[in-house]
Formats: sequence, C-alpha cells, structure tokens
Amino acid sequence: MGFDFDRIIDRRHTSSSKWEKYAGRDILPFWVADMEFATPDFIREAVAERLAHEVIGYTRTPPALVEAFIGWLSREYGWAVPEEWLVWIPGVVPGVNLTARAVAEPGGAILIPTPVYYPFLSVPRNAGQASLTVPLVRQKRRWVMDFDALQNAVDSSDVGRPHLLLLANPQNPTGRVYDRAELTTLADFCLRNDLTLCSDEIHSALVIDPDARHLPIASLGPEIAERTVSLFAATKTYNIPGLPCAVAVIPDPELRRAFNRARAGLVPDIGPLGYAASRAAFADESHYLPDLLAYLRGNHARLAEVVGDRMTPVEATYLGWIDLTDTAAAPHAGEYLEQFGIGLSDGGPFGGPGYVRFNFACPKQLLEQGLSRLAAGLETLR
Ligand SMILES: Cc1ncc(COP(=O)(O)O)c(C=O)c1O
Repeated sequence: MGFDFDRIIDRRHTSSSKWEKYAGRDILPFWVADMEFATPDFIREAVAERLAHEVIGYTRTPPALVEAFIGWLSREYGWAVPEEWLVWIPGVVPGVNLTARAVAEPGGAILIPTPVYYPFLSVPRNAGQASLTVPLVRQKRRWVMDFDALQNAVDSSDVGRPHLLLLANPQNPTGRVYDRAELTTLADFCLRNDLTLCSDEIHSALVIDPDARHLPIASLGPEIAERTVSLFAATKTYNIPGLPCAVAVIPDPELRRAFNRARAGLVPDIGPLGYAASRAAFADESHYLPDLLAYLRGNHARLAEVVGDRMTPVEATYLGWIDLTDTAAAPHAGEYLEQFGIGLSDGGPFGGPGYVRFNFACPKQLLEQGLSRLAAGLETLR
C-alpha cells in the first residue's frame, strides 16, 4: 500500500499547536516540529486495537514494545542493548531535564553547543546549574562542533565546574548528522574532561542525505556508553508527538538509579495508547519510512532552491536553518516574515538570532505556497 504525502489535511479545529498560533490570520505555519502528513494507518490501527478494550488503565511497559525497540537498535545500528538499561519516559525533553537533575552538583555547569532546540537552554536553570553555551561553527556546507572552544569553556569556566554536555544528534536546528570521527572526538572530549553526556537522538531515523549515516554515540564503545544517557523516541518519525513515549538508554547502573530518583513523584508513566503507537512504530519495516524520506528529500531540494546559500544542506530532520543575519530582518526575522504570511520559528530562542527555522514536512502544494511567500519576504531584503 502506498503512502499519500501529497494530501492536504485540514488540521484546523483540532487545537493543533502549529495551526492555532495563527488562527484567523493569513499566515501559513511552518514552525513547530510536527508533520502535515497522516500518521500511518498501521500506527492508528495499533492505537484503535488498544482502544477496542474498554478499560484504559495504568499500564506497564509492554514486553512487545521492549522487544521492538531493542530489535530496532540492533537492526539499525548493530547496537545490542539489554532490557535493564532502558527507562521509559513520556518525552525526550523530560529525559534531558531528568539527566541534568540526576547529575546536578553544587556549583555545577552544563555545556550546550548552540544553536540548539530551545528547551535545552532552560535545562541548566531547571536543574539549578549554570549554563555554558558554546557556538557551533558554520562551514560552507555544514555546521561543526568547535572543540577548541569547548575545551576553552571547560578550562576557563567562571560560572561553575562543567560536568554535563547536552548533545542533539541529529542536530536540531542545523540538520547535521555528526559523523563517526566527530563523535569519536566528542566522546574523547567527554572522557578527558569527566563529563556526563546526554544525547538526544529523537531525529535519528530522519536522515535524508543518502551519504549521511546516524550513529548513536554510546554505541562507539563501553567507555562513552557508561557516561551517556541516550534518548530515543518514534514520535517524530511517525508523526505521533501527541502520543508521548520515549526511552532513555542508560548502561551505568548508578546513573540509571540517579535518573530514576530524579523522576520519582514528578514524571508520570506512559499511557497505553502511547505504548501501542510506539510499539507499532519500532516494529515497522514497511515502505513508510523510505517513502517519507524520499518525499522530504524532494521538499528539501525545493527549499534549497529558494534560499540558496542561506542554508547548509540538511542531512537529517525536516527542518531548514536559514541565515538572515546579514539582512534588515535580523534579529527578529521570524516576526518580519509573518508580514508575508509565513510563520517560521525565530532563531532567537535557539541561541541563533537572525536565523529562522523552516519545517518542510508538508504536502508539496502547501510547501509551494510557503516558498512563494518566503521568496517574497526575501526579495524585500535584497
Ligand atoms: C531535538 C528534539 N528533542 C526533543 C523534541 C521533543 O521531544 P518530546 O516531545 O518527546 O519531549 C524535539 C521536538 O521537536 C526535538 O527536535
């Protein structure tokens, strides 16, 4: 059965976060990271099957989900993970915050390469830690980590001892998939400086560049695995962020205990519908994902045509990071473009003022409307 990514689906009157923001205004939303595509039937059927039972009670993690997730990690990355390493949680963002609370220490600081998915930037404050942001560096065709600047931030920190680094890989918003050499350097950096690593890998299945390959950093070897909390979820890939379900892979028993202690009494268990949806997702071996990635690749090519060198090629995610820092629209580029009927994420909250983030996971017809509005906005900035 084919998957129809061209169909326009009216999401108004569903209280959609993305569409409600601009309700009643002629502004097309391309901001928050959910997709305009139907959640695949096999996921909705798995949820419907669970709903067919009349009682929606408290639920333990189903063994079939654990098996599907462990099988997925092994199939995709050749990474063998025992069940005891897993902690299931209702969301990746709670997982990042729990990690920070689990390892918080008096006078501690957290390293965060930026720009980054904006909830990362509140994590230090939430955990009572200082924040040390270190800019990524833009090369012509990709964003990279600046290891000298990271080392310098550790060596000369005057806000506290850096002991945790927050990684988004694949990276939101730049779309980078860090390669083996970069991840190895990062792992060495963490070992050398005694840092815990929290690696958010929610976009791992959304690699659209045929030459890029995602690698979970903890799969590099036991030394880095022992100091890493890796976070996964199927919610981006299968467009089910409204059915929260995520999993932390924590090989070190002490770190896992601290993570569970930080969670106690605050973070609820996952519901049966979230479990059912994610079980179907991790077990999926249909054409859905290759077809989705091919469609996203086409959309990415169209966006690249319109914005040119303002964006580095997106290796993974469905998010384009567009540089308007040299224009009169900076630093409030998001707000500026709203005048042209297009709602993007402003770069400011990501630590990238003057940039905008464009979510291109939508039917081509909608994308083209957005692109012509974006082009009109860019034209005025020439
Ligand atoms: C890098 C990254 N992490 C986490 C999330 C959200 O995860 P969750 O909804 O499971 O908290 C997003 C959503 O866009 C994201 O891009």
